[in-house]
Amino acid sequence: MLILNTIKETQEFLKNQQRAGKTIGFVPTMGALHAGHISLIERAKQENDLAVCSIFVNPTQFNNPEDLKKYPRTLEKDCEALLPAGCDVVFAPSAEEMYPVLPQLRMDFGSLETVMEGKFRPGHFNGVGIVVSKLFNIVKPEKAYFGLKDLQQVAVIRRMVQDLSFDVAIIPCPTLRETDGLAMSSRNTRLSTEARALAPQIFKSLTLAKEKLQTGASVYEMQIAVNEHFAKFPAFELEYFEASDFDTLQAINKKTVEGKTALCIAAFLDGVRLIDNIVF
Ligand code: PAJ
Repeated sequence: MLILNTIKETQEFLKNQQRAGKTIGFVPTMGALHAGHISLIERAKQENDLAVCSIFVNPTQFNNPEDLKKYPRTLEKDCEALLPAGCDVVFAPSAEEMYPVLPQLRMDFGSLETVMEGKFRPGHFNGVGIVVSKLFNIVKPEKAYFGLKDLQQVAVIRRMVQDLSFDVAIIPCPTLRETDGLAMSSRNTRLSTEARALAPQIFKSLTLAKEKLQTGASVYEMQIAVNEHFAKFPAFELEYFEASDFDTLQAINKKTVEGKTALCIAAFLDGVRLIDNIVF
């Protein structure tokens, strides 16, 4: 497994591999890797000749400086996990390498980012869009793998690829969970023991809401049930709990849900911001 830190050597190495006929599957990450990330690498390796993983804690997508500062950085451990997963190349640049100057470009995803993560983290998807574009131009993958854990990110990246004619297939991958239902996340390591024990209530609220809607409850009744659920666990500070149309991500305000629906939640627990969703 090759670990590269500069854009130039990564572009050169991968260009040569492509000239030799190798296909590239790419998984962009911010490190602190867990089994969810590793499942994306394994899939990339299964479906391509080379699996490439980038590890870069992208400062421009953090709207909260404290969150950026506290983001876990565990490069050595990450590489130990990537090797047995079949990863061929790790691209781990410094912030100076990626941004010798801060980008002047701004990306605006319109209605896709006026809801949920985009609404509560202003500028977040501008940062994601620009860094993923840069990474696509550096790695030039045939396929890029993204977790549905970040459902809105998948929608934004898909649209960006369509709008800018990037020559890459976006492959959405299922969310990996702990045995108690908690979606795997690099942020979970920041939870205290008490908070970790409460954290599965996030997934519980999603399954409870899904059951409500599927047994005929209105969106309003579902919201009441969710609020009642979290009233039992005051440690949570709910930011949003939304029933959204899967394709447009717009909130469903009609009485009943029809078609492919995503239930999405963001909540603070123990000062850690956690997100999750289910689709049905
Ligand atoms: P990061 O949060 O490190 O996630 C990297 C990829 O792993 C994303 O596609 C994310 O959706 C996926 N992932 C995270 N948790 C997962 C889980 N439990 N199961 C399956 N996949 C999971 O998302 C980012 O980094 C950044 O925004 C990035 C795209 C790298 C741009 O900086």
